[in-house]
Amino acid sequence: MARRRMIYEGKAKILYEGPEPDTLIQYFKDDATAFDATKKATIEGKGVLNNRLSEHFMSGLNAIGVPTHFIRRINMREQLIRMVEMIPLEVVVRNYAAGSLSKRLGIPEGQQLPRPVIEFYYKDDALHDPLVTEEHVVAFNWASQQDIDDMIALALRVNDFLSGMFLGVGIRLVDFKIEIGRIYDGDFQRLIVADEISPDSCRLWDIETGRKLDKDVFRHDLGDLADAYTEVAKRLGVMPKSQ
Ligand code: C5P
Repeated sequence: MARRRMIYEGKAKILYEGPEPDTLIQYFKDDATAFDATKKATIEGKGVLNNRLSEHFMSGLNAIGVPTHFIRRINMREQLIRMVEMIPLEVVVRNYAAGSLSKRLGIPEGQQLPRPVIEFYYKDDALHDPLVTEEHVVAFNWASQQDIDDMIALALRVNDFLSGMFLGVGIRLVDFKIEIGRIYDGDFQRLIVADEISPDSCRLWDIETGRKLDKDVFRHDLGDLADAYTEVAKRLGVMPKSQ
């Protein structure tokens, strides 16, 4: 089959023109990057696992009425998605302190937060994706105040859904990042979850042992990343099959 036109290549994914209007094909690569892409590796099988896991999370969200860009998986590495206008923000939800929150505010890693904490980061590689306030988001027109309210509501629903799903298989959802896009429906616009949800963009700790089952394994050389992601997939019952 002739390769479709490439629209965009990111660090872990490639977007191709889709078969129908307003669709794209999202291809998951095996590449892993960390620390502003100063650390790079190819982890065999990571793309297959993330394609399958992102499908699992996004189709579950669709099923409970949380809109996402996911339409259907095409093959082991590709899925059909809705084209959206991306909001240039990363939306992080934290349930337990870890990573940059612990570093910035001195809160010990693993401490449960009094409530889910939502943060916005401006997506700009040259600026290293800085943490921004709602004031910045509105003042610089990255999103409206209404969009912020909608993004928070969406992020909290995703958090409830994912936290419950992971808890059921003995995994603590410490924190995660989502990206959100806009779709237009006549005069109306709606915000939907886009990009991917996978162990690349979550912190997942085994509740019994504390074992890390996410990209921190790669960031901090804690073992085999594909093993960790395979463990997540196995527990969720979504082991990739041949197609
Ligand atoms: O590094 P930090 O503690 O701010 O990360 C919070 C969460 O957001 C982690 O789950 C991390 O994997 C995710 N994240 C991401 N992409 C980024 C930054 C953070 O997926 N560019």
